[in-house]
Amino acid sequence: MKALSAIVVALGTAMAVLGLVRPSEAAAAIDPNNVKLPALLGSIFFDLNHTSGSWEACEGLSYLVEGDTEFVPYGMNETGYAQFAALSSYDPNRKCVVAYGYKTTDTSTNVLIFDAETGQLVGPPVWVPVVSYEFPGVGIRMSHDHERKRTIITGPMESYGTSHGFYVVGDGHQESKDLGFTLEQIAPRGLFQLGYLEVLGTKLSAIDPSTGFFWEGVARNSTDTKATEFLLLGVNPDEGRLEHSLVFPIGDCEVLGPLTWHEGSRTILMPTFRTGTREIIVGSFDPSALTCVTMQSLPLALLPYSGFMTFPPGQGNTTATLMVNAASPAAGLQDAGTPNTEAVVLSRGLVSPPLQDAAGLTAAALRRLQQGPPPSNPQMLVDFDLSTGEVVQRTGTVCMSGVAPGVGCPGQLHWAL
Ligand SMILES: *[C@@H]1O[C@H](CO)[C@@H](O)[C@H](O)[C@H]1NC(C)=O
Ligand SMILES: *[C@@H]1O[C@H](CO)[C@@H](O)[C@H](O)[C@H]1NC(C)=O
Ligand SMILES: *[C@@H]1O[C@H](CO)[C@@H](O)[C@H](O)[C@H]1NC(C)=O
Ligand SMILES: *[C@@H]1O[C@H](CO)[C@@H](O)[C@H](O)[C@H]1NC(C)=O
Repeated sequence: MKALSAIVVALGTAMAVLGLVRPSEAAAAIDPNNVKLPALLGSIFFDLNHTSGSWEACEGLSYLVEGDTEFVPYGMNETGYAQFAALSSYDPNRKCVVAYGYKTTDTSTNVLIFDAETGQLVGPPVWVPVVSYEFPGVGIRMSHDHERKRTIITGPMESYGTSHGFYVVGDGHQESKDLGFTLEQIAPRGLFQLGYLEVLGTKLSAIDPSTGFFWEGVARNSTDTKATEFLLLGVNPDEGRLEHSLVFPIGDCEVLGPLTWHEGSRTILMPTFRTGTREIIVGSFDPSALTCVTMQSLPLALLPYSGFMTFPPGQGNTTATLMVNAASPAAGLQDAGTPNTEAVVLSRGLVSPPLQDAAGLTAAALRRLQQGPPPSNPQMLVDFDLSTGEVVQRTGTVCMSGVAPGVGCPGQLHWAL
């Protein structure tokens, strides 16, 4: 990675005119139902029902346009589904966004597949027999495996249940298939000590495409401390085997953060604390060496909203697009406030990892449902070079978190290639 720095710095200046600027350059020619890829995609999850005049859950895609100042919805909307917890993946084979859908009429879990170019559903929603724990999407983990052309989903099998099933939805299939095991069946006896804890957080899983292992962050109540402890589990979905269970801290990485597979380094990246410090880093977990090392320090101002980390095309292997707190449209970088440095016990059996509260789409979305809109917070996009620690590109404000439904920040962020 270090050796790459010089090249990346040299390319940086030239690349700055590509990257985030790309969608706006294409804007003139945009047909809203045929978005030109590559594009930076977000999502909508509330919309006005034009018949009833009230805001209702809906799920659809949005894309960034016009001088990078807003995400514009396109394609399908008013579907009666909602997306939470940043549960989605981009499938480069089908050029589709694979997203969690919480069906508002019956609270069921579904997989929705949207065509990135048209924003239309590719097929009917696929029902998966796992359920959210207390709030939409909580307890559920979902990632797409582009090598094996399938989506793996796990979650509680009944509300307040103690067993977590594993399911697969093959690309192009219209039904989910039970993989035939539960986490509790494949975990060594006593792994969860005083009890498995559900995690309120975003991006709690990632697939390593070379092995197909499904890596997920989970939590337990520690026998020793009676406090929350986070683990990283490597599940082999085909063999129904728990291949690895690692307890944080893992090397440089102190605690569970949102997980994103990074093809450039072939590791799982996660914002976390450097072990033994309150310094925020992007940790790089190598799933074959089982080590976690610091890839880059991360200023608090760059803590990614909702854990979004996506990799822009044409900018080498070390640049990540992050959504971060913006002070004003003129936008310097602004700290998101004091980060949580400890896990938070939210209610019986539900915990939130440190840092995630600040990232807070899930928390904001929940407040929105329960108490009305929380204070708004402008967000902008930056391209951050993970190798040099430099911001190579930034936009003005692109969305406001925590504002009225329909105009808030996306529930996902993917560079669609
Ligand atoms: C919109 O509101 C109307 C009238 O209340 C209702 O019949 C319709 O089902 C709603 N649409 C959706 C997608 O929920
Ligand atoms: C939803 O679709 C209607 C037309 O059917 C359109 O007027 C509206 O702007 C769309 N809303 C979003 C958020 O896409
Ligand atoms: C862990 O279990 C103990 C004993 O039941 C309980 O007092 C404590 O609150 C639990 N901690 C968490 C984080 O759930
Ligand atoms: C970026 O990553 C890809 C995939 O791992 C690799 O083929 C390519 O050589 C890398 N490029 C650079 C500049 O490191």
